[in-house]
Amino acid sequence: MQRKRCFLFTMITFDVITIFPELVEAFGKESLLKRAQKKKLLKIQAHDLRKWAKDKHKTVDDKPFGGGLGMVLRIEPIYKAVTALKSEARNSKSETNSKFKSSQSKTILFTPRGKKFTQKMAYEFSKFNQLIFICGRYEGVDERVAKHIADEELSIGDYVLMGGEIPAMTVIEAVARLIPGVVGKPAFLKERLIKGSGGPKNGFIEYPQYTRPETFKEWRVPRVLVSGNHQKIGEWKAKHGQIVGKQ
Ligand code: ADE
Repeated sequence: MQRKRCFLFTMITFDVITIFPELVEAFGKESLLKRAQKKKLLKIQAHDLRKWAKDKHKTVDDKPFGGGLGMVLRIEPIYKAVTALKSEARNSKSETNSKFKSSQSKTILFTPRGKKFTQKMAYEFSKFNQLIFICGRYEGVDERVAKHIADEELSIGDYVLMGGEIPAMTVIEAVARLIPGVVGKPAFLKERLIKGSGGPKNGFIEYPQYTRPETFKEWRVPRVLVSGNHQKIGEWKAKHGQIVGKQ
């Protein structure tokens, strides 16, 4: 069961399991996300998978059974990492509730074979307290991780990246901007919400935007936008806008 996000504030923790934690840490230090973390609206924690490796070389991969090119991430350190992070979240008292149910946590494995990430999923994810992201690398991840550890396999698009770190950061951004206070006004109160549509599930209008100067070289901004006629401006935005994020 998912919890409805309400004004009784519950913070989302993004736990990212990766062999490149510095990549994700740097991302969390970017201005809006840094500010959001300072305001305790969210938390981004990058975890080095090698922390859960048992040998002295901190090995997290191995050769694939049956042969094949490349190395495969092993299930054992991933299992230990996910178990530890879930239990850490359960034991840490969040701002408003001391009882943390595991149903408020979701574990996602990034893979190009996964379900395509959408705006609708971003809304659903924003209701969780903890999102655990497993970033694949090398040639793949032991299939038992997808079957028995992850709740979902996600892809951010029909192309193959070198790992799940960029997909994880993509999802963090999409979810973070839906949290009230992260991008100024809550995203769902923005003027781009389709008026009279009944809410964000019907998407946002994205229309072309301009700023000063009014004329650059021979390129003018559309005259209607500087006309001061709000009715006409509204019509122009509706005509040139595209609906994105419809569920
Ligand atoms: N890992 C590699 N490519 C990916 C993709 N497109 N989406 C999610 N994870 C990936």
